[in-house]
Amino acid sequence: METTVSNKQVILRDYVKGFPKESDLMIVTASDTVEFKVKHGSAAILVKNLYLSCDPCMGIRMREPNHSTLALIDSFVPGKPIAGIGVSKVIDSDDPAFEKGDFVWGMVDWEGYSTLNTAGMFKIDVNINVPLSNYTGILGMIGLTAYAGFFEICSPKKGETVFVSAASGAVGQLVGQFAKLMGCYVVGSAGTKQKVDLLLNKLGFDDAFNYKEEPDLDSALKRCFPKGIDIYFENVGGEMLDAVLLNMKTFGRIAVCGMISQYLLETRDRLQNLPDIIFKRIKMQGFTSIDYIDIFPKFLQFVLPYIKEGKLIYLEDIVQGLENGPSALVGLFTGQKHWQASNPSRSRMMKSYKYVLRLRDSYTNKTTKSVMY
Ligand SMILES: NC(=O)c1ccc[n+]([C@@H]2O[C@H](COP(=O)([O-])OP(=O)(O)OC[C@H]3O[C@@H](n4cnc5c(N)ncnc54)[C@H](OP(=O)(O)O)[C@@H]3O)[C@@H](O)[C@H]2O)c1
Repeated sequence: METTVSNKQVILRDYVKGFPKESDLMIVTASDTVEFKVKHGSAAILVKNLYLSCDPCMGIRMREPNHSTLALIDSFVPGKPIAGIGVSKVIDSDDPAFEKGDFVWGMVDWEGYSTLNTAGMFKIDVNINVPLSNYTGILGMIGLTAYAGFFEICSPKKGETVFVSAASGAVGQLVGQFAKLMGCYVVGSAGTKQKVDLLLNKLGFDDAFNYKEEPDLDSALKRCFPKGIDIYFENVGGEMLDAVLLNMKTFGRIAVCGMISQYLLETRDRLQNLPDIIFKRIKMQGFTSIDYIDIFPKFLQFVLPYIKEGKLIYLEDIVQGLENGPSALVGLFTGQKHWQASNPSRSRMMKSYKYVLRLRDSYTNKTTKSVMY
């Protein structure tokens, strides 16, 4: 049996200005081969990476670091592999808490095999009957983000009105379903008709609109929320946030999860309606999932029964192979979707749901096959 193997990696060529392109990333074979044995005394684990998550914050990490971004996260290092949340299988372990054959999730480099410090790696309970890829999403940091932002920051009450932007994305689809479980009235915005249909017909939203087809976002929100919005789960920023502020109720809450429309702009939008925060005594709070890592067990206790009962669904878009990683990641920001490339009339559609990269064919969950849409 072979004891070493070559290691493919996805490398950042140089810091990116503006929107990332596939050519900003490069697939290489690392000069060192991987030995199937972790160093004795290292307390590390050697893993084979199975799934890698494509996330909007990876676009921020491809840019040169600055004072603001460093308050949250380091940039990737040019010439080195990029990194993100992944699901992996342990091949060898020098940490007694992990055994060969365990499945783990956490931050990994975009490569076939990684040697990892186990701090920050979570062991997966394979008795939980979900696809392994879900640990890049609903059962990982994405799920915690949706849960913490909605419940801890927004404190929802039955009957309240909730608006979610980027509502068919990884986080948004969960927030919308959480809101329905709490008995709220929930409306989502998304960028295509297909996504709007998904929100209405699959994810249980009460109403939804395509923000790209609305000539006036303020009017669209007034149509959906004639009495105003109690809770806004913010994923996009810019003009959507400006229009939402005009439509918030007094003592409304806004969880500022993300501002994907603003991250890669050289000149960001200037908002007109910020004084509404004072006039309406709105609570508006930025947060990251890391801030809520202590409530991860509480989040699991909440979410697992709903998954088991089939009351929460989670949609993933799985792309096959590390070599397709750059186009999948860049597609988050450029609006391309790889499987639509052969259909020019649909090639401007952005991804919906959670975007995951699968590295091995043989590692779907034992009992449930990964959902592929
Ligand atoms: N705070 C945290 O800890 C945390 C954790 C995870 C994610 N986030 C943030 O939460 C937000 C959603 O993340 P996600 O993982 O759910 O993302 P996702 O699944 O990748 O969804 C992103 C969606 O955003 C929409 N979008 C892209 N560019 C846009 C633009 N210029 N204007 C408006 N919408 C745009 C697209 O959908 P449409 O076609 O519908 O426009 C895209 O599919 C992001 O801003 C992300 O950075 C924060």
